[in-house]
Amino acid sequence: MADKVFGDGKGRGKEMATRLVQSGVRFDTATGAVSVPIYQTATFRHPAPGETTGYDYTRTGNPTRQALEEALADLDGGAGAFAFSSGMAAIMAVMLLFETGDHIIFGEDLYGGTYRLMDWILVKFGLHVSYVDTTDLGAVAAAVRPETRGVVLETPSNPMLKTTDIAAVAAFCKERRLLTIVDNTLMTPYLQRPLEHGADLVVYSATKYLGGHNDLLAGIVVAATDKLAQDVALVQNGTGPVLAPHDSWLLLRGLKTLSIRMDRQQENAQRLAKWLSIQPQVLQVNYPGLDQVHVQAAGPGAMLSFSLKDAQAAKSVIQRLQIITYAESLGGVESLLTYPYLQTHADVPEETRERLGINDRLLRLSVGIEHYEDLRADLEHALRF
Ligand SMILES: Cc1ncc(COP(=O)(O)O)c(C=O)c1O
Repeated sequence: MADKVFGDGKGRGKEMATRLVQSGVRFDTATGAVSVPIYQTATFRHPAPGETTGYDYTRTGNPTRQALEEALADLDGGAGAFAFSSGMAAIMAVMLLFETGDHIIFGEDLYGGTYRLMDWILVKFGLHVSYVDTTDLGAVAAAVRPETRGVVLETPSNPMLKTTDIAAVAAFCKERRLLTIVDNTLMTPYLQRPLEHGADLVVYSATKYLGGHNDLLAGIVVAATDKLAQDVALVQNGTGPVLAPHDSWLLLRGLKTLSIRMDRQQENAQRLAKWLSIQPQVLQVNYPGLDQVHVQAAGPGAMLSFSLKDAQAAKSVIQRLQIITYAESLGGVESLLTYPYLQTHADVPEETRERLGINDRLLRLSVGIEHYEDLRADLEHALRF
């Protein structure tokens, strides 16, 4: 839908839609099952000493998870993909590729849980972190130290929805032998494929758009090269937070409808962003589709945030909503409203939150697939009190 503005003009959206729905369809050659069977087993019988069916133990490899991982590697154009029990487990796995003493640069407008992981947990193991505005390549360059090993960015960022040029950061990193890691949760491979722009690793909270139904937790890491894929595989098997067979199947099922969900969510988001931006109670709307044109993505996505003129109003707005649910998370078919200041970003340092505008006026909206008019009417009712 937004391809004319955002797309690469090669109709990749359509190609992706086909690839998404076909995920896993030809995986089960034994029976031809179109829906990948759920191999609900911890272990696998060996035919004889020294022989294996190709599967030994589910932490190391499970057919249902493998079907999912192969589909995701294909969608992102990676050498390998790995499914974890949550997005945080996926991010943790990537952090375990680094060593004590390494320094990593993070985009400062990022999911609060990543701050928590780095500042409260991994700091104890000697990983050093700087947070910068990755939309400004000069700021990234200024943060580089001799011991810097990687740059982690979210684009669009969360919750301020600012866009970083992945290719520019990746080219910068390549020259200096730094890893470029993109959290692509908000876009999914349907709209944006960071490896095509030079990134080395992509991570997802698959809890969000990939799963799409607010009914499972999952995380994905996609690696660009065989070497990186081997490194992530070692961490996945060595630490063990793998995605369970049943959840792997749920995620495969969610993937199949990603294109139609995302198209509808994005269309609703574009209309709501425009409508919100002319409401007298609204100070500012943050949505990539309003003012930014970026060839790296096939669309602006379905996340927006907005700040209210009256700081006291946020809590009343939340309480007056009847369709949009006040809950953490994003990307599912049901619209969710989040108060980042109190919820997802509560653990971001106060000074950073203030500077970025993550304050008590800011609300984040994950737009679902409900009818647009119902969503608009719900917000209109909530804003007029
Ligand atoms: C952009 C982003 N990355 C990672 C995560 C963590 O994922 P999970 O909640 O699946 O552990 C989240 C969760 O909200 C997120 O929004």
